[in-house]
Amino acid sequence: MFLEEAVISPEVTNSPVRSYTEWDPLEEVVVGIVDDATFPPWHPALEPVIPAGQHETFRREQGRPFPPEIVRAAKRELDEFVSLLEAEGVTVRRPEPIPQRREYSTGAWTSTGMYAAMPRDALLVVGEEIIECPMAWRSRYYESLAYRPLLKEYFHGGARWSAGPKPELLDELYDLEWSEPAPGDPTRLVVTEFEPTFDAADFMRFGRDIVGQKSNVTNEFGVAWLARHLGDQYRVRLLEFDDDHPMHIDATITPLAPGKLLVNPERVTKVPQMFKAWDLLPAPTPALPDSHPLYMTSKWINMNLFSIDENRVVVEAQDEPMIAALRSWGFTPIPCNFRNFNSFGGSFHCATLDVRRSGALQSYLD
Ligand code: ARG
Repeated sequence: MFLEEAVISPEVTNSPVRSYTEWDPLEEVVVGIVDDATFPPWHPALEPVIPAGQHETFRREQGRPFPPEIVRAAKRELDEFVSLLEAEGVTVRRPEPIPQRREYSTGAWTSTGMYAAMPRDALLVVGEEIIECPMAWRSRYYESLAYRPLLKEYFHGGARWSAGPKPELLDELYDLEWSEPAPGDPTRLVVTEFEPTFDAADFMRFGRDIVGQKSNVTNEFGVAWLARHLGDQYRVRLLEFDDDHPMHIDATITPLAPGKLLVNPERVTKVPQMFKAWDLLPAPTPALPDSHPLYMTSKWINMNLFSIDENRVVVEAQDEPMIAALRSWGFTPIPCNFRNFNSFGGSFHCATLDVRRSGALQSYLD
């Protein structure tokens, strides 16, 4: 017997993916892993965003594992973070480890991987949709594969699943002549407009407004693709900050609740019009000692907080100035050890992907 017609329903019902903000009550979250974390092959795209003091280490160690004692310690911290989230009633999911030191090639170039530590960079959740980002680094080309079992499950459960146009990452995407701009000169970005690229961590979700920045991994082409893809339910809006080395917005602004925005006082030097009605809370100076290795981030990673709801926020256990500041602003800080994880370039916001938060789609900004 022949089946004449089968109409496949396009309906999204009861999606396990649904999240509109960074602060609505959290139900389910993906937390990254540091298994097999590997220094990426050196490439010109890394130059503007890897701290200058680490370039030599990256060039020397490329393709080799990160120091095993830091990996082990970060793993323990991730376990602590997971237990703490579960104790707060949140469902926690983890990616599947994939080998990071296996060489891959597109035909035009070869690379090895890095890690699956930062789901925030590779995947963007907007409403009931989860988007695999077209990332600009060759070492992150296949990063989203670690999340494929989850993506398939979420899709089968009713979520929308999509991906940006697969980038080629040819030399034309990069300004191979990139060098540090002279003091006072405008910020120079290492990505060109050859094709769309973006990392999810260059965007923050404020209901109908998705606030982002252009960066050394996110170009205008990528932002335009995202805006057109999301359609007229959302407004993608760009901000520019005082940041000579932008990559990922989540150590520059961190929304904690409607009307409450934690800001990096060095980078946010004037109040953006869209936040006129909000309280801007300047992040306290980072407490990390200089001796602590930070391979891929500045110390402002202290602002990379993760909200369980409008009150509860996870904060690094030794970051006493931040804990005190959060209390004084009326939040309930939940401390978790995370300094060894910080060495890999992120903190709680980077290490997570909030897949489901309760709460409806609203507008919060002017
Ligand atoms: N580029 C930021 C800084 O150095 C760090 C942002 C890290 N965020 C992330 N999602 N990996 O301050």
